[in-house]
Amino acid sequence: MVIEQSNRPTMNALQGQVVSPRPVWLMRQAGRYLPEYRELRSRAVDFLDLCLTPALASEITLQPIRRFTFDAAIVFADILLVPYALGQKLGFVENEGPRLEPFTSTQHLSPDRLRTILAPVFETLDRVKAKLPPLGTLIGFAGAPWTVATYMIAGRGSDDSAEARLFAYRKPRDFSALIDMLSEATADYLIAQIDAGADALQIFESWAATIPAQDIDSFSLKPITKIIDRVRKHAPSVPIILFPRGAGANYTRYATETGASALSLDAHTSLEWAASLPASTVLQGNLDPLALVAGGESLDQAVDRILRVTAERPHIFNLGHGIRPETPIANVEQLLRRIRNQPA
Ligand code: CP3
Repeated sequence: MVIEQSNRPTMNALQGQVVSPRPVWLMRQAGRYLPEYRELRSRAVDFLDLCLTPALASEITLQPIRRFTFDAAIVFADILLVPYALGQKLGFVENEGPRLEPFTSTQHLSPDRLRTILAPVFETLDRVKAKLPPLGTLIGFAGAPWTVATYMIAGRGSDDSAEARLFAYRKPRDFSALIDMLSEATADYLIAQIDAGADALQIFESWAATIPAQDIDSFSLKPITKIIDRVRKHAPSVPIILFPRGAGANYTRYATETGASALSLDAHTSLEWAASLPASTVLQGNLDPLALVAGGESLDQAVDRILRVTAERPHIFNLGHGIRPETPIANVEQLLRRIRNQPA
């Protein structure tokens, strides 16, 4: 049986259709809340290894699809693979997070080997594509330049991106060289993911909230626009979801100026407000990950509310940020039954 692309729920929504039941996937759906992930993870030397071993990464990508039949799979990888491929040393410390060698200047980095070093990710996409149910959508992703730069400059995660902001004020030319290098490398990486089988892409600007207002254009909107332009030249019809977490009122600019096909909303952004975004903008989101941890009646109410407010426009159900490791499996099952209107 040949299933037309037009029968795939997530792709349909991304192309602007109102789809029922609502397509759903969850950010970080492959991860520590799943016992089968923890089992595989305990056998890998480290997290980077896991991302760069296609047999394992493809299996992990498919775990949540098999268990829950989500409507999209997101390739198991990490936004920090780009700095790694540019030549910055990267490690992940158990229960703490990423550690990168301190960034000094782009002179120590090179985009030349990116496709070679990240070849395992492309192979993962290829393997997942071969095993994904025909109605599923395969999502590739990358971090936006500002978000990736905050980790590169601080050498680790931070809540206020203080190091990156200081660096940008003190060394504006070096900072802008870094943003330019990341924009080029990220466009290349996303294009290669499309060539390897990605049906759609998501760009994570997870630290949009920390960008000084005066710098939003040069740090974020312009680099993202440039990336989207380049990807579109290569693959005009591949939908691109943009997740500028914490962008607040700037969500409008991300929707209207970057050329993104869909906007992923964080849990702090009201869907009623988002109704004022251009009708052509597909929405994704925005259940509070803690509502999913809590479950019960408040989960049902939150889900119903999202479905109701977005009933008239193309929408993909998702969380407002990544699923928490402490999320009970039963609550994810409850969520899916509610969205798909199935009895308990
Ligand atoms: O299932 C999926 O969504 C696909 C895989 C995915 C991972 N990271 C795997 C991962 C995706 C889409 C990401 C994106 C990512 N990585 C972001 C943007 C999204 C966001 O959450 O805002 C960021 C900022 C990173 C960088 C990163 N990777 C951090 C800060 C951490 C440590 C914090 C944490 O959650 O552990 C990681 C590690 C990481 N990336 C894990 C996973 C499953 C946990 C690793 C483990 O198993 O110990």
